[in-house]
Amino acid sequence: MSFENVDYTSLNIPAAPFSNPSIIPDFPADKVPRHIGVIMDGNGRWAQLQGLERTRGHQAAEPVVFDTIAGAIEAGVRYLSLYTFSTENWKRSPSEVRFLMGFSRDIIRRRVAQMDEWGVRVRWSGRRPRLWKSVIAELESAMERTKSNKTIDVVFCINYGGRAEIADACSDILQAARDGKIKGNKVTEKMISDHLYNPDIPDCDLVIRTSGEHRTSNFLPWQAAYAELSFAPELFPECGREVLWRSIDEYVSRDRRFGGVKK
Ligand code: IPE
Ligand code: IPE
Ligand code: MG
Repeated sequence: MSFENVDYTSLNIPAAPFSNPSIIPDFPADKVPRHIGVIMDGNGRWAQLQGLERTRGHQAAEPVVFDTIAGAIEAGVRYLSLYTFSTENWKRSPSEVRFLMGFSRDIIRRRVAQMDEWGVRVRWSGRRPRLWKSVIAELESAMERTKSNKTIDVVFCINYGGRAEIADACSDILQAARDGKIKGNKVTEKMISDHLYNPDIPDCDLVIRTSGEHRTSNFLPWQAAYAELSFAPELFPECGREVLWRSIDEYVSRDRRFGGVKK
């Protein structure tokens, strides 16, 4: 495959982003998860099942990403973390990695006006080294443009790894101790939370993984320590806001105890 002529456009962009209010489930506002994380998995299998290149599956995922964001806004979710590229995804073929880098950069550029219009504050969680500079530049520009938006924070987890995030937090704590900004010889949970990539973002309440895999693959291990888990059998390109709503519906009836006893 030549990368001079890569087609980064999506396959099918929905025209009407928001639903008719009559079809939006009526979740009790105080029960809707404040922060949802989505492990958007199954793009490659979706493409391969149809005899297409894996990259076609990533392209087919673009409208699903934006349908999911629209559905999260409609449900009243305040933070949505989207696992887009993990620190382990560099193990894939150089051509797939290059596609994913260029495609992520182009999606953010192409969709920033739409996200801004929707009231989305764009955020990024991930490691800087190795990530393409053009991806970082596009993220930084989108974050700056949308920094005052308050409808929903959408966190693109790109070159994100949960262990890397905790290790990076520990390195920052070490540096702060060397600089005399942290006293004593004890690392507390609060110190680690305060040194994560986006310390202002609350813990994750619900993690959804698509494609029928039952694992979390290094996604938000700190923030999702007490999250409810929901596994959807659909491959990500077959998903959309209905899958998100189904998981929220499941979540609403869960009993979260956080180690305590139900009163
Ligand atoms: C998820 O789909 C997208 C990324 C990890 C970038 P996959 O590419 O992992 O698709 P499968 O799991 O191989 O089908
Ligand atoms: C997790 O999916 C990463 C993203 C969705 C970005 P993977 O497809 O990389 O996870 P594994 O390898 O199946 O655990
Ligand atoms: Mg996968």
